[in-house]
Amino acid sequence: MEMDSYRLNWLIFVTLALSAVPCSVGKKYISALGDPGMARDGLRVAFEGWNFCNEVGAEAPNMGSPRAADCFDIYPVGDGHKIKHRVTEEDNKLSVGEPFVGGTPSVLTDVDLYAVEKELYLASKCQVDEADQKPWHFWMVMLKNGNMDTLSGLCPKDGHKVGPFPPEPRFPCFGKGCMNQPLLFHEYTSLQEDNTTMKGSFYGTYDLDADLSKGFDNISYSNVTWKKEVGKGSWVFHHVLKTSEKYPWLMLYLRSDATTGLSGGYNHQTRGMTRIIPESPDFTVRFTLNVMRGGGPKSQFYLMDMGSCWKNNGQPCDGDVTTDVTRYSEMIINPSVTAWCRADNLNSCPPYHTLPNGTRIHRTATANYPYGAYHMYCTPGNAQHPEEPYNICDQYSNPQPQEILQIIPHPAWGDYGYPTEPGQGWIGDPRTWELDVGRMSQALYFYQDPGTPPVRRLWPSLDVGTEIYVSKEGEIAEWELSNFEVVIPDPSQ
Ligand SMILES: *[C@@H]1O[C@H](CO)[C@@H](O)[C@H](O)[C@H]1NC(C)=O
Ligand SMILES: *[C@@H]1O[C@H](CO)[C@@H](O)[C@H](O)[C@H]1NC(C)=O
Ligand SMILES: *[C@@H]1O[C@H](CO)[C@@H](O)[C@H](O)[C@H]1NC(C)=O
Ligand SMILES: *[C@@H]1O[C@H](CO)[C@@H](O)[C@H](O)[C@H]1NC(C)=O
Repeated sequence: MEMDSYRLNWLIFVTLALSAVPCSVGKKYISALGDPGMARDGLRVAFEGWNFCNEVGAEAPNMGSPRAADCFDIYPVGDGHKIKHRVTEEDNKLSVGEPFVGGTPSVLTDVDLYAVEKELYLASKCQVDEADQKPWHFWMVMLKNGNMDTLSGLCPKDGHKVGPFPPEPRFPCFGKGCMNQPLLFHEYTSLQEDNTTMKGSFYGTYDLDADLSKGFDNISYSNVTWKKEVGKGSWVFHHVLKTSEKYPWLMLYLRSDATTGLSGGYNHQTRGMTRIIPESPDFTVRFTLNVMRGGGPKSQFYLMDMGSCWKNNGQPCDGDVTTDVTRYSEMIINPSVTAWCRADNLNSCPPYHTLPNGTRIHRTATANYPYGAYHMYCTPGNAQHPEEPYNICDQYSNPQPQEILQIIPHPAWGDYGYPTEPGQGWIGDPRTWELDVGRMSQALYFYQDPGTPPVRRLWPSLDVGTEIYVSKEGEIAEWELSNFEVVIPDPSQ
């Protein structure tokens, strides 16, 4: 044992001495989150429903605006505990047009802006103020409907409003109303009969006309259930997502979003869990993931999905949807999802790959470029000088242009603690991951206009979950996420 730890220390010394990364000896690290490792008994969790372009579009009948929260404090009482909720059913059912404390009267009738303010209102009820800490709010369950009605004129193209246009096969839609928000049901967190287990859920379906007395067979379905023992361990978030004939493309993530500002893919103020926004290259993300069912061959299961925003000239985003650009990077762990990037398909590859030591390899360097590490890359729709050949990202699915870099398990990512072989972390291989997301995301390619200063890469959204891309009916994904933590250098040092 002594020998081993001596060798380990020597190895760490040598690694640090040779590393291109700034020496981190003596640096103090802290959690960036309000609820480090999901260990806090008094849970803070919220729900948001997004249509194809990350807005509301229209509320589902009797469901209110698609924002809800489950936030409570827990007190010892006698031999047991008591849960006291902060958000009422009335708050959760608030619907466009209904006033609430702090709501701006001028947005009351705008269904999209109403949801934004409802989220801020729910956050004000959930807010945790701790000494010397920035206030924080909640984990965010995000559920998105991938249907797109081209005739609705609802979704802008690269941030520019466009009128209705004829249907295209790449946009699933069964007809008018296909972009609807879900029926959402909420079981408030409660203590179970054993007096020590706390449990609650958000669940529902997009099929508004379903006969729910028959259950959720043959219809779309989502269910996020959280569970924890009082005083012990982590919350475990259990997720189920199922597609249907009418809803063949669905997304369900658990997000840690910034507590203020714009979060990835969303051009409005949000509230969240991340008190201090992590910045590349120095931060780590840890969590435990158990994938039980994969969601079929087109389920793009994101081990880590990171979202941010900056302009092509390197300036931070400011809400101008024609020049703000959402930046996404995702590690997909479903082994059925393979590399579209190939030496003979360069438009799906980022122009270069950067090795951990900083060496860049151009995508035409066929002997060294790790084509197998990339599922897909696409450049922002408003990029002025993308390198030929290129693909433009889906231009309608964000309020603004976006850039997407999707990676898959490959030895190229091993240095950062990411999976190196297909199947790692997949069904039957539950793991606790410790991902050097900071250093990895610093090395990734993102587009900027030539000659502009490289941006500081800040990541207001980090999440885990799946996007079941257009699939046959009844594809089911099921997974558990726990112990989620983001570690950053102590900014007070
Ligand atoms: C739970 O608490 C209630 C009230 O304090 C008590 O009556 C009951 O016996 C407890 N149940 C268990 C399983 O400990
Ligand atoms: C679901 O579909 C299957 C196969 O078509 C059918 O046997 C079953 O009765 C359906 N269930 C419900 C609740 O409609
Ligand atoms: C949601 O999932 C939990 C955990 O698997 C399960 O106990 C519960 O019955 C589900 N709820 C519904 C409405 O399907
Ligand atoms: C970087 O790493 C590669 C692969 O290990 C190696 O070939 C190259 O010489 C290294 N470059 C530098 C500058 O250390």
